Amino acid sequence: MSLADRNQHIAPFYVMDLLARAKQLEAEGRDIVHLEIGEPDFSAPQPVVEAMRDALAQGITHYTPALGLPELRAAIADFYQRRYGVDVPAAQVAVTPGASGALQLICGALINAGDRVLMADPGYPCNRHFVRLFGGREWSVPVGPESRYQLTAAEIRAVIKGASAAELAQIKAVFVASPSNPTGTLLSQGELADIHALCQERGWWLVVDEIYNGLIYQVQEHTAAGYGLDDESRTAVVNSFSKYFGMTGLRLGWCVLPNTLCNAVERQAQNLFLSPSTPAQYGALQAFSGETAAILESRRQAFEARRDYLLPAIRELGFDVPVEPQGAFYLYADSTAFGEDSFALCEMLLDQAGVALTPGLDFGEHRNRQHLRFAYTREIPVLEEAVARLRRYL
Ligand SMILES: Cc1ncc(COP(=O)(O)O)c(C=O)c1O
Repeated sequence: MSLADRNQHIAPFYVMDLLARAKQLEAEGRDIVHLEIGEPDFSAPQPVVEAMRDALAQGITHYTPALGLPELRAAIADFYQRRYGVDVPAAQVAVTPGASGALQLICGALINAGDRVLMADPGYPCNRHFVRLFGGREWSVPVGPESRYQLTAAEIRAVIKGASAAELAQIKAVFVASPSNPTGTLLSQGELADIHALCQERGWWLVVDEIYNGLIYQVQEHTAAGYGLDDESRTAVVNSFSKYFGMTGLRLGWCVLPNTLCNAVERQAQNLFLSPSTPAQYGALQAFSGETAAILESRRQAFEARRDYLLPAIRELGFDVPVEPQGAFYLYADSTAFGEDSFALCEMLLDQAGVALTPGLDFGEHRNRQHLRFAYTREIPVLEEAVARLRRYL
Protein backbone atom coordinates (compact mmCIF):
# COMPACT_ATOMS: atom_id res chain seq x y z
CA MET A 1 0.00 0.00 0.00
CA SER A 2 1.32 3.41 -0.89
CA LEU A 3 1.06 5.18 2.44
CA ALA A 4 3.23 8.20 3.22
CA ASP A 5 6.82 7.50 4.22
CA ARG A 6 6.34 9.47 7.42
CA ASN A 7 4.30 6.62 8.85
CA GLN A 8 7.56 4.80 9.44
CA HIS A 9 8.63 7.55 11.79
CA ILE A 10 5.57 7.51 14.03
CA ALA A 11 6.04 4.98 16.83
CA PRO A 12 3.10 3.37 18.63
CA PHE A 13 2.62 3.59 22.38
CA TYR A 14 4.13 0.39 23.76
CA VAL A 15 1.88 0.70 26.79
CA MET A 16 -1.08 -0.01 24.47
CA ASP A 17 0.18 -3.60 24.06
CA LEU A 18 0.22 -3.89 27.83
CA LEU A 19 -3.21 -2.33 28.08
CA ALA A 20 -4.59 -4.85 25.58
CA ARG A 21 -3.03 -7.66 27.64
CA ALA A 22 -4.51 -6.14 30.82
CA LYS A 23 -7.96 -6.06 29.20
CA GLN A 24 -7.57 -9.70 28.21
CA LEU A 25 -6.58 -10.65 31.77
CA GLU A 26 -9.54 -8.70 33.13
CA ALA A 27 -11.87 -10.48 30.72
CA GLU A 28 -10.53 -13.73 32.18
CA GLY A 29 -11.55 -12.51 35.63
CA ARG A 30 -8.20 -11.17 36.89
CA ASP A 31 -8.09 -7.97 38.93
CA ILE A 32 -5.53 -5.51 37.54
CA VAL A 33 -4.31 -2.37 39.29
CA HIS A 34 -3.83 0.29 36.64
CA LEU A 35 -0.91 2.57 37.40
CA GLU A 36 -0.06 3.09 33.74
CA ILE A 37 -2.75 5.67 33.03
CA GLY A 38 -1.58 9.24 32.45
CA GLU A 39 -4.81 10.96 33.32
CA PRO A 40 -6.44 11.95 36.60
CA ASP A 41 -8.94 9.48 38.03
CA PHE A 42 -11.02 12.55 39.01
CA SER A 43 -13.49 13.57 36.34
CA ALA A 44 -14.47 17.07 35.23
CA PRO A 45 -15.40 19.27 38.23
CA GLN A 46 -19.16 19.55 38.79
CA PRO A 47 -19.44 23.30 37.97
CA VAL A 48 -17.81 22.55 34.61
CA VAL A 49 -20.19 19.67 33.93
CA GLU A 50 -23.20 21.81 34.83
CA ALA A 51 -22.09 24.66 32.57
CA MET A 52 -21.65 22.21 29.70
CA ARG A 53 -25.04 20.72 30.37
CA ASP A 54 -26.66 24.17 30.37
CA ALA A 55 -24.93 25.06 27.10
CA LEU A 56 -26.12 21.83 25.48
CA ALA A 57 -29.66 22.32 26.81
CA GLN A 58 -29.68 25.77 25.20
CA GLY A 59 -28.61 24.30 21.88
CA ILE A 60 -25.17 25.93 22.00
CA THR A 61 -23.53 23.40 19.74
CA HIS A 62 -22.24 25.55 16.90
CA TYR A 63 -18.70 26.48 15.92
CA THR A 64 -16.92 29.19 17.86
CA PRO A 65 -14.14 31.38 16.40
CA ALA A 66 -11.08 29.26 15.54
CA LEU A 67 -9.04 30.57 18.49
CA GLY A 68 -11.92 30.04 20.90
CA LEU A 69 -14.71 31.95 22.65
CA PRO A 70 -13.57 35.52 23.35
CA GLU A 71 -14.84 35.23 26.96
CA LEU A 72 -12.80 32.04 27.51
CA ARG A 73 -9.66 33.63 26.06
CA ALA A 74 -10.27 36.56 28.44
CA ALA A 75 -10.79 34.18 31.38
CA ILE A 76 -7.48 32.43 30.61
CA ALA A 77 -5.70 35.79 30.34
CA ASP A 78 -7.20 36.78 33.69
CA PHE A 79 -6.02 33.47 35.18
CA TYR A 80 -2.38 34.40 34.36
CA GLN A 81 -2.83 37.73 36.08
CA ARG A 82 -4.42 36.28 39.20
CA ARG A 83 -2.24 33.19 39.53
CA TYR A 84 1.17 34.50 38.43
CA GLY A 85 0.81 38.28 38.26
CA VAL A 86 1.66 38.06 34.54
CA ASP A 87 -0.12 40.29 31.99
CA VAL A 88 -1.31 38.24 29.04
CA PRO A 89 -3.51 39.95 26.42
CA ALA A 90 -6.56 37.80 25.63
CA ALA A 91 -5.74 38.32 21.94
CA GLN A 92 -2.57 36.29 22.44
CA VAL A 93 -4.36 33.29 23.94
CA ALA A 94 -5.38 30.54 21.52
CA VAL A 95 -7.86 27.93 22.74
CA THR A 96 -7.07 24.57 21.12
CA PRO A 97 -8.19 20.93 21.02
CA GLY A 98 -6.06 19.94 24.02
CA ALA A 99 -2.39 20.74 24.51
CA SER A 100 -1.99 18.22 21.67
CA GLY A 101 -3.79 20.62 19.31
CA ALA A 102 -1.66 23.52 20.56
CA LEU A 103 1.59 21.61 20.04
CA GLN A 104 0.58 20.57 16.52
CA LEU A 105 -0.46 24.10 15.58
CA ILE A 106 2.78 25.52 16.94
CA CYS A 107 4.81 22.91 15.05
CA GLY A 108 2.82 23.60 11.91
CA ALA A 109 3.52 27.30 12.24
CA LEU A 110 7.23 26.95 13.09
CA ILE A 111 8.76 23.87 11.54
CA ASN A 112 10.22 23.75 8.05
CA ALA A 113 11.40 20.50 6.46
CA GLY A 114 14.83 19.68 7.85
CA ASP A 115 14.48 21.80 11.00
CA ARG A 116 15.68 20.26 14.25
CA VAL A 117 14.08 20.64 17.69
CA LEU A 118 15.99 20.04 20.91
CA MET A 119 14.09 18.05 23.51
CA ALA A 120 14.79 15.93 26.58
CA ASP A 121 15.02 12.14 26.41
CA PRO A 122 13.11 10.80 28.32
CA GLY A 123 10.24 13.12 27.47
CA TYR A 124 6.67 13.29 26.20
CA PRO A 125 6.80 10.98 23.15
CA CYS A 126 4.26 12.80 20.96
CA ASN A 127 6.47 15.87 20.63
CA ARG A 128 8.96 14.15 18.39
CA HIS A 129 6.12 12.84 16.26
CA PHE A 130 4.54 16.30 15.91
CA VAL A 131 7.89 17.64 14.73
CA ARG A 132 8.29 14.74 12.28
CA LEU A 133 4.78 15.24 10.87
CA PHE A 134 5.92 18.63 9.62
CA GLY A 135 9.13 17.28 8.13
CA GLY A 136 11.40 18.26 11.02
CA ARG A 137 13.45 16.04 13.27
CA GLU A 138 13.85 15.94 17.00
CA TRP A 139 17.29 16.31 18.50
CA SER A 140 16.96 14.22 21.62
CA VAL A 141 19.26 15.15 24.47
CA PRO A 142 19.76 12.38 27.04
CA VAL A 143 18.93 13.68 30.51
CA GLY A 144 19.25 12.01 33.89
CA PRO A 145 19.26 12.60 37.62
CA GLU A 146 22.17 15.10 37.34
CA SER A 147 19.75 17.66 35.86
CA ARG A 148 16.65 16.24 37.56
CA TYR A 149 15.76 14.68 34.19
CA GLN A 150 15.31 18.13 32.66
CA LEU A 151 16.93 19.73 29.66
CA THR A 152 18.99 22.61 31.07
CA ALA A 153 20.92 25.48 29.49
CA ALA A 154 24.18 23.69 30.44
CA GLU A 155 23.11 20.59 28.52
CA ILE A 156 22.07 22.68 25.54
CA ARG A 157 25.47 24.40 25.62
CA ALA A 158 27.13 20.99 25.55
CA VAL A 159 25.07 20.13 22.45
CA ILE A 160 26.14 23.39 20.83
CA LYS A 161 29.78 22.63 21.59
CA GLY A 162 29.60 19.20 19.99
CA ALA A 163 27.61 20.24 16.90
CA SER A 164 28.89 21.30 13.48
CA ALA A 165 27.95 24.71 12.06
CA ALA A 166 25.62 22.98 9.59
CA GLU A 167 23.88 21.09 12.37
CA LEU A 168 23.54 24.23 14.48
CA ALA A 169 21.97 26.06 11.57
CA GLN A 170 19.21 23.43 11.45
CA ILE A 171 18.10 23.99 15.04
CA LYS A 172 14.85 25.91 15.13
CA ALA A 173 13.48 25.42 18.62
CA VAL A 174 13.83 23.97 22.09
CA PHE A 175 10.89 22.12 23.65
CA VAL A 176 10.73 21.70 27.43
CA ALA A 177 8.01 20.50 29.77
CA SER A 178 7.89 21.51 33.41
CA PRO A 179 6.69 19.50 35.29
CA SER A 180 7.73 16.74 32.93
CA ASN A 181 6.03 13.61 31.75
CA PRO A 182 7.33 10.95 32.57
CA THR A 183 9.51 12.24 35.40
CA GLY A 184 7.34 14.72 37.31
CA THR A 185 10.38 16.97 37.79
CA LEU A 186 10.47 20.74 37.31
CA LEU A 187 12.72 23.35 35.81
CA SER A 188 13.28 26.12 38.36
CA GLN A 189 12.39 29.65 37.40
CA GLY A 190 16.11 30.44 37.06
CA GLU A 191 16.80 27.37 34.91
CA LEU A 192 13.95 28.23 32.58
CA ALA A 193 15.13 31.83 32.34
CA ASP A 194 18.63 30.55 31.43
CA ILE A 195 17.20 28.42 28.62
CA HIS A 196 15.17 31.37 27.40
CA ALA A 197 18.27 33.60 27.43
CA LEU A 198 20.22 30.99 25.48
CA CYS A 199 17.41 30.66 22.91
CA GLN A 200 17.37 34.43 22.56
CA GLU A 201 21.12 34.42 21.98
CA ARG A 202 20.80 31.78 19.24
CA GLY A 203 17.55 33.04 17.67
CA TRP A 204 15.73 29.82 18.54
CA TRP A 205 12.12 29.41 19.57
CA LEU A 206 11.33 28.15 23.07
CA VAL A 207 8.18 26.07 23.54
CA VAL A 208 7.30 25.48 27.18
CA ASP A 209 4.69 22.83 28.00
CA GLU A 210 3.10 23.71 31.34
CA ILE A 211 0.28 21.15 31.16
CA TYR A 212 1.08 19.85 34.66
CA ASN A 213 1.19 23.30 36.25
CA GLY A 214 -1.28 23.34 39.12
CA LEU A 215 -0.16 19.86 40.17
CA ILE A 216 2.90 21.08 42.03
CA TYR A 217 3.98 20.04 45.49
CA GLN A 218 5.84 22.12 48.03
CA VAL A 219 7.54 24.42 45.55
CA GLN A 220 6.55 27.69 43.96
CA GLU A 221 4.81 27.42 40.60
CA HIS A 222 5.91 29.67 37.77
CA THR A 223 5.15 30.26 34.09
CA ALA A 224 7.08 31.23 30.99
CA ALA A 225 4.08 33.26 29.79
CA GLY A 226 5.84 36.40 30.96
CA TYR A 227 8.38 35.92 28.13
CA GLY A 228 5.76 35.33 25.49
CA LEU A 229 4.33 38.72 24.76
CA ASP A 230 6.32 40.27 21.95
CA ASP A 231 7.56 38.68 18.75
CA GLU A 232 11.20 38.98 19.78
CA SER A 233 10.58 36.76 22.82
CA ARG A 234 10.09 33.77 20.46
CA THR A 235 8.37 31.89 23.29
CA ALA A 236 5.23 29.77 23.13
CA VAL A 237 3.57 28.50 26.31
CA VAL A 238 1.28 25.50 26.13
CA ASN A 239 -1.30 24.45 28.71
CA SER A 240 -4.47 22.41 28.92
CA PHE A 241 -7.68 21.73 30.76
CA SER A 242 -6.77 18.03 30.76
CA LYS A 243 -4.66 17.37 33.83
CA TYR A 244 -5.01 19.93 36.64
CA PHE A 245 -8.59 20.72 35.59
CA GLY A 246 -9.44 17.02 35.18
CA MET A 247 -11.03 17.39 31.75
CA THR A 248 -8.97 15.03 29.56
CA GLY A 249 -11.83 13.74 27.40
CA LEU A 250 -13.26 17.19 26.77
CA ARG A 251 -10.23 17.90 24.56
CA LEU A 252 -9.50 21.48 25.43
CA GLY A 253 -6.19 23.26 25.89
CA TRP A 254 -4.61 26.58 25.08
CA CYS A 255 -1.41 28.36 24.28
CA VAL A 256 -0.04 31.86 24.86
CA LEU A 257 1.81 33.17 21.84
CA PRO A 258 3.58 36.22 20.44
CA ASN A 259 1.40 38.09 17.93
CA THR A 260 2.91 36.92 14.67
CA LEU A 261 2.91 33.28 15.75
CA CYS A 262 -0.63 33.69 17.07
CA ASN A 263 -1.79 34.93 13.66
CA ALA A 264 -0.14 31.98 11.92
CA VAL A 265 -1.67 29.58 14.46
CA GLU A 266 -5.09 31.15 13.87
CA ARG A 267 -4.88 30.51 10.12
CA GLN A 268 -3.82 26.93 10.74
CA ALA A 269 -6.56 26.40 13.33
CA GLN A 270 -9.18 27.77 10.92
CA ASN A 271 -8.14 25.17 8.39
CA LEU A 272 -7.28 22.19 10.58
CA PHE A 273 -9.89 22.30 13.35
CA LEU A 274 -12.37 25.12 12.52
CA SER A 275 -12.95 25.51 16.26
CA PRO A 276 -12.33 23.80 19.58
CA SER A 277 -15.27 21.89 21.12
CA THR A 278 -18.01 24.39 21.90
CA PRO A 279 -19.67 22.64 24.90
CA ALA A 280 -16.23 22.03 26.39
CA GLN A 281 -15.44 25.74 26.09
CA TYR A 282 -18.65 26.70 27.88
CA GLY A 283 -17.74 24.21 30.59
CA ALA A 284 -14.23 25.66 30.80
CA LEU A 285 -15.67 29.10 31.58
CA GLN A 286 -16.45 27.60 34.99
CA ALA A 287 -12.96 26.10 35.38
CA PHE A 288 -11.66 29.31 36.96
CA SER A 289 -14.51 29.91 39.42
CA GLY A 290 -13.87 29.94 43.17
CA GLU A 291 -15.98 26.82 43.59
CA THR A 292 -13.93 24.90 41.01
CA ALA A 293 -10.67 26.24 42.47
CA ALA A 294 -11.57 24.71 45.85
CA ILE A 295 -12.30 21.33 44.23
CA LEU A 296 -9.03 21.43 42.29
CA GLU A 297 -7.01 22.36 45.35
CA SER A 298 -8.37 19.39 47.30
CA ARG A 299 -7.48 17.13 44.35
CA ARG A 300 -3.99 18.58 44.23
CA GLN A 301 -3.61 17.75 47.90
CA ALA A 302 -4.83 14.21 47.24
CA PHE A 303 -2.18 13.77 44.52
CA GLU A 304 0.48 15.08 46.89
CA ALA A 305 -0.57 12.60 49.58
CA ARG A 306 -0.42 9.79 47.01
CA ARG A 307 3.06 10.83 45.96
CA ASP A 308 4.12 10.99 49.60
CA TYR A 309 2.86 7.43 50.06
CA LEU A 310 4.05 5.85 46.80
CA LEU A 311 7.54 7.34 46.48
CA PRO A 312 9.02 5.85 49.68
CA ALA A 313 7.04 2.64 49.14
CA ILE A 314 8.55 1.89 45.71
CA ARG A 315 11.99 2.96 46.85
CA GLU A 316 11.69 0.42 49.61
CA LEU A 317 10.77 -2.23 47.04
CA GLY A 318 14.09 -1.58 45.30
CA PHE A 319 13.13 0.89 42.55
CA ASP A 320 15.52 3.80 42.34
CA VAL A 321 13.94 7.25 42.11
CA PRO A 322 17.01 9.44 42.59
CA VAL A 323 15.20 12.78 42.39
CA GLU A 324 12.03 13.64 44.28
CA PRO A 325 9.43 14.62 41.67
CA GLN A 326 7.65 17.84 42.66
CA GLY A 327 4.87 17.84 40.12
CA ALA A 328 2.44 15.97 37.84
CA PHE A 329 1.41 12.47 38.98
CA TYR A 330 4.34 10.38 37.83
CA LEU A 331 7.29 8.58 39.35
CA TYR A 332 9.97 7.58 36.83
CA ALA A 333 11.82 4.72 38.43
CA ASP A 334 15.08 3.02 37.58
CA SER A 335 14.26 -0.68 37.61
CA THR A 336 17.77 -2.14 37.10
CA ALA A 337 17.57 -3.86 40.49
CA PHE A 338 15.11 -6.18 38.72
CA GLY A 339 17.01 -6.73 35.46
CA GLU A 340 17.98 -4.87 32.34
CA ASP A 341 14.69 -5.00 30.44
CA SER A 342 11.93 -2.86 31.89
CA PHE A 343 9.53 -3.81 29.09
CA ALA A 344 9.84 -7.49 29.98
CA LEU A 345 9.54 -6.48 33.63
CA CYS A 346 6.31 -4.57 32.90
CA GLU A 347 4.94 -7.64 31.10
CA MET A 348 5.84 -9.84 34.04
CA LEU A 349 4.45 -7.47 36.63
CA LEU A 350 1.20 -7.34 34.72
CA ASP A 351 0.93 -11.09 34.23
CA GLN A 352 2.23 -12.23 37.59
CA ALA A 353 1.44 -9.41 39.99
CA GLY A 354 -1.58 -7.84 38.26
CA VAL A 355 -0.06 -4.35 38.28
CA ALA A 356 0.07 -2.33 35.04
CA LEU A 357 2.95 0.16 34.62
CA THR A 358 4.31 2.06 31.61
CA PRO A 359 7.68 0.94 30.21
CA GLY A 360 10.47 3.47 29.66
CA LEU A 361 10.40 2.53 25.95
CA ASP A 362 7.47 4.90 25.53
CA PHE A 363 9.47 7.98 26.51
CA GLY A 364 12.58 7.87 24.34
CA GLU A 365 15.75 5.88 23.92
CA HIS A 366 18.03 6.98 26.73
CA ARG A 367 18.22 4.17 29.30
CA ASN A 368 14.66 3.35 28.34
CA ARG A 369 15.01 -0.34 29.16
CA GLN A 370 16.16 0.56 32.66
CA HIS A 371 13.12 2.63 33.60
CA LEU A 372 9.39 2.44 34.02
CA ARG A 373 6.72 4.93 35.01
CA PHE A 374 4.26 4.74 37.88
CA ALA A 375 1.22 7.04 37.55
CA TYR A 376 -0.38 7.72 40.92
CA THR A 377 -3.77 8.22 39.33
CA ARG A 378 -5.47 5.91 41.82
CA GLU A 379 -6.53 6.34 45.45
CA ILE A 380 -4.12 5.46 48.25
CA PRO A 381 -5.80 2.12 49.16
CA VAL A 382 -5.38 1.03 45.53
CA LEU A 383 -1.75 2.16 45.59
CA GLU A 384 -1.29 0.14 48.79
CA GLU A 385 -2.71 -2.91 47.07
CA ALA A 386 -0.35 -2.40 44.13
CA VAL A 387 2.64 -2.12 46.45
CA ALA A 388 1.60 -5.25 48.36
CA ARG A 389 1.31 -7.18 45.09
CA LEU A 390 4.66 -5.92 43.84
CA ARG A 391 6.29 -6.78 47.17
CA ARG A 392 4.93 -10.34 47.04
CA TYR A 393 6.07 -10.83 43.48
CA LEU A 394 9.44 -9.08 43.50
C1 LIG B 1 3.61 16.67 28.69
C2 LIG B 1 2.31 16.52 27.98
N1 LIG B 1 1.97 17.43 27.04
C3 LIG B 1 0.81 17.34 26.36
C4 LIG B 1 -0.08 16.31 26.60
C5 LIG B 1 -1.37 16.26 25.81
O1 LIG B 1 -2.47 16.54 26.61
P1 LIG B 1 -3.90 17.03 26.10
O2 LIG B 1 -3.91 16.99 24.62
O3 LIG B 1 -4.88 16.08 26.72
O4 LIG B 1 -4.09 18.42 26.62
C6 LIG B 1 0.22 15.34 27.58
C7 LIG B 1 -0.70 14.21 27.84
O5 LIG B 1 -0.39 13.25 28.51
C8 LIG B 1 1.45 15.45 28.28
O6 LIG B 1 1.80 14.57 29.22
